[in-house]
Amino acid sequence: MAKLYINEKNRKGHINAEIYGNFSEHLGRCIYEGLYVGEDSEIPNTNGMRNDVVAALREMKLPVLRWPGGCFADEYHWKDGIGPKASRKKMINTNWGGVTEDNSFGTHEFFELCEQIGCKTYINGNVGSGTVQEMSEWVEYMTFDGVSPMAELRKQNGHEKAWKVDYFGIGNENWGCGGNMTPSYYANLYRRFQTFVRDYKNDQHIFKICCGPNVNDTYWTEGVLKTCYENAPQGFHGFMDGLSMHYYTHPNGWDDKGSATEFDEQTWYKTLFKALYIEDLIKMHTAIMDKYDPEKKIGLICDEWGTWFNCEPGTNPGFLYQQNTMRDALVAGLSLNVFNKHCDRVKMANIAQLINVLQAVILTDGPKMLRTPTYHVFHMYKYHQDAELVESYIDGVKKIGQDADFMVPNLQESVSVDKDGTMTITVNNLSVTDSEVLEIAFAELLVGEVTAAIVTNKMDAYNTFDNPDNVREVAFKDFNIVDKGIVATIPACSVVQFRVKKAGVCCI
Ligand code: AHR
Repeated sequence: MAKLYINEKNRKGHINAEIYGNFSEHLGRCIYEGLYVGEDSEIPNTNGMRNDVVAALREMKLPVLRWPGGCFADEYHWKDGIGPKASRKKMINTNWGGVTEDNSFGTHEFFELCEQIGCKTYINGNVGSGTVQEMSEWVEYMTFDGVSPMAELRKQNGHEKAWKVDYFGIGNENWGCGGNMTPSYYANLYRRFQTFVRDYKNDQHIFKICCGPNVNDTYWTEGVLKTCYENAPQGFHGFMDGLSMHYYTHPNGWDDKGSATEFDEQTWYKTLFKALYIEDLIKMHTAIMDKYDPEKKIGLICDEWGTWFNCEPGTNPGFLYQQNTMRDALVAGLSLNVFNKHCDRVKMANIAQLINVLQAVILTDGPKMLRTPTYHVFHMYKYHQDAELVESYIDGVKKIGQDADFMVPNLQESVSVDKDGTMTITVNNLSVTDSEVLEIAFAELLVGEVTAAIVTNKMDAYNTFDNPDNVREVAFKDFNIVDKGIVATIPACSVVQFRVKKAGVCCI
């Protein structure tokens, strides 16, 4: 038996809703087919956006969406994607399969999509092959309401009112596909480009994100921050609001990422071990950020994370289409718990990618759509959005696994309290075989009404278009309310969510 201690009196920070964000790139069937089918499609749509997908994303409470890339962002020239569709430039998507990009989904369509979903906007600008003028004009086009060349152009293209850009990335992976730069070279470009990302409205600051490290590249983090802080501009915060970090989970290394659906128990544990490594990465880069920014005003933005396996046999290797099993559900559950626990530094996270690419929450096939196991985890965890992190600790955790180098805890959790005082507890059982009895004890809260939900199945179970609900969220009943707490049996291979209302408080 393990015991989860919850000290609800110790609030440890605000969990930004944006930690539950997602990422949509012009890659494979994410934008085209997945999100956007065009107004003339037979698939039910509103202004070209799939109704089924938008409804599912609203239900999941998607808080923010990053676009247009990824590597694609540093080859994207936004003016190609505005104006009458028939005259939009066609280009080669050199990063992803060499297919023709017809630019029918551009700036207007992105804002239309986010309005339909009801989510915030995160635009990634082009530093690698773009100019300062191009970036600055894009921001003017999107956000300026007065009289200016770009505002006029937007109006001519049918949108009178400026939109709101919540987040803006100054380049993507500029250590790699975004230009193969050195840290100091990029940091100087960052200083220059960001200067011209203007706030046209006093009450609407655009949160600026600097390109941060890949995985454990501390040389990049240190080098970029050193150059950015050198002779730091007045009012540094606003100059840089966030630093990104990218980390993908794949069990066997980059060259053979393994199958998304066919794996053994050893690979299961190895994958979860690697997923948990994201906590080390957060601590590692936070330690460097703390040197420059001890008050933690700059957010660590984990804007690409998730599993990356070999693409499904028979699909275009450039499209990164992979299935999604209970293993992905656990990777999502573990990672989101880690982000919650580091909400003092992690201000946003964007799983890669929304639909039909990598660890997607939705897969589509023509008119058919399914929610993946990862979707159900995001759906269960949505109550953490904008809640307050609460101190928690599990005593009696066992180390499990099949390989001494890749042992993982059998249980992992995070806990928050929302504005109404309802507590959300999310617990993962990483064991393939063993359930675990968990006693949940509060400091002084007396337990009132409790509801719970679970996603569980065999480790390699997944949803298909013929059986879309094989893995799904269902009500969880295997718990009892006891004196000052709850006792539950957490099934093997599961992600469980409890919602606990307070009946009162008691003495310690
Ligand atoms: O998400 C797929 C790709 O992974 C992105 O385009 C890039 O930023 C990263 O390397």
